[in-house]
Amino acid sequence: MRAGHRVLVEKGAGALAAYPDAQYEAAGAEIVSGIDLASIDILAHVTPLPAAAIARMRRGAVTIGLAGPYDDERVAALAAAGVTAMSFEKLPRTSRAQSMDVLSSQALAAGYRCVLEAAIRLPRFFPLAMTAAGTVPPAKVVVLGIGVAGLQAIATAKRLGATVAANDIRPDSAEEAHSVGATFIEVGLDAAEGTGSGGYAKSLGDDAAARQKAALAPHIAQADILITTASIPGRAAPRLVTHEMVAAMRPGSVAVDLAAPSGGNVEGSVPGKDVQIASAQGDGVVTIVGLASAASDLPTDASRLFAKNVENVLKLIVADGALNVDFADDIVEGMTITHDGVNRLVGPTAPPADAPAPASDEGKDA
Ligand code: NAI
Repeated sequence: MRAGHRVLVEKGAGALAAYPDAQYEAAGAEIVSGIDLASIDILAHVTPLPAAAIARMRRGAVTIGLAGPYDDERVAALAAAGVTAMSFEKLPRTSRAQSMDVLSSQALAAGYRCVLEAAIRLPRFFPLAMTAAGTVPPAKVVVLGIGVAGLQAIATAKRLGATVAANDIRPDSAEEAHSVGATFIEVGLDAAEGTGSGGYAKSLGDDAAARQKAALAPHIAQADILITTASIPGRAAPRLVTHEMVAAMRPGSVAVDLAAPSGGNVEGSVPGKDVQIASAQGDGVVTIVGLASAASDLPTDASRLFAKNVENVLKLIVADGALNVDFADDIVEGMTITHDGVNRLVGPTAPPADAPAPASDEGKDA
């Protein structure tokens, strides 16, 4: 608005995140029902756009959000619509891009949330308590995957007073775990076995994955809480923990799987559900908590951070009140997955600009 633009907000868009329409209006935005997508120059969104919405966009319009770049059909639809789609999933992980990094801001919320989910279900204290009625030992937490969410999970568990051990397959991860107060579980991998491109991990081979499981099993069996956050961009989550490994935990233990929506790090996890399995250590159960959308369970702050990320992308592409999508900028170049009818992920051989849009799937994941 400071650059002279009209800003439309879908009626009720912020209601479940505790941002009432009146606050947007007080800030100068217009509240509308059923936005006419064909009239919009820049659309900020959260989850990937349904095909029917994409088909209604104006050619040359810009979209900014989690665009779903690993879904070929959706990217083809964005290209066919002539939309300039900027995808947060493809944001370069550079220092300059940090203020636009939705994956980080949402992983921060998710990593914090998953510890609270565990703490509330655990029939024990987190911190050491030395009282006249006896001593309560601190809870033992194991965190697998030490990216943004894992680091936040470690920091949160430490703040609550637990002892934390962690593992990841990226070579830098041991130092990162130590920096937030966790011990690192060595599983004896060569650096090349876990290092992919762009600072991300890659899928482990069968032999390395088996060695990792064997090394992790005794640590998991002794833990009160297991938190798993491992993922590989664009692929199913790596299966790090088998049924036997999680069943080996004590009765009352809790395993929280942040990766449940993308296939699950823990065998048997179901997104949005608690699943109880018999503990092999005696009468009682281990609870496997499959989180469905952990950041969305903290919508007020997750939205605040997401909005700031979007604002910082807008500042890149709007100059003097006019749209200026400049591919000389490495962030714009990295994020833009379709432009002018071209699927930039596969190059100019992508579907032609006049290709028909795929059948409607509106509402599928809105
Ligand atoms: P992510 O969400 O893609 O994955 C989470 C973690 O799972 C990663 O640390 C990954 O190494 C780990 N993982 C994957 N397969 C595994 C396996 N088989 N066993 C154990 N762990 C496994 O990661 P996220 O949080 O997006 O971070 C990815 C990288 O980007 C990290 O190196 C992080 O430090 C870096 N980063 C850089 C930023 C910047 O410089 N602007 C901002 C945020 C992250």
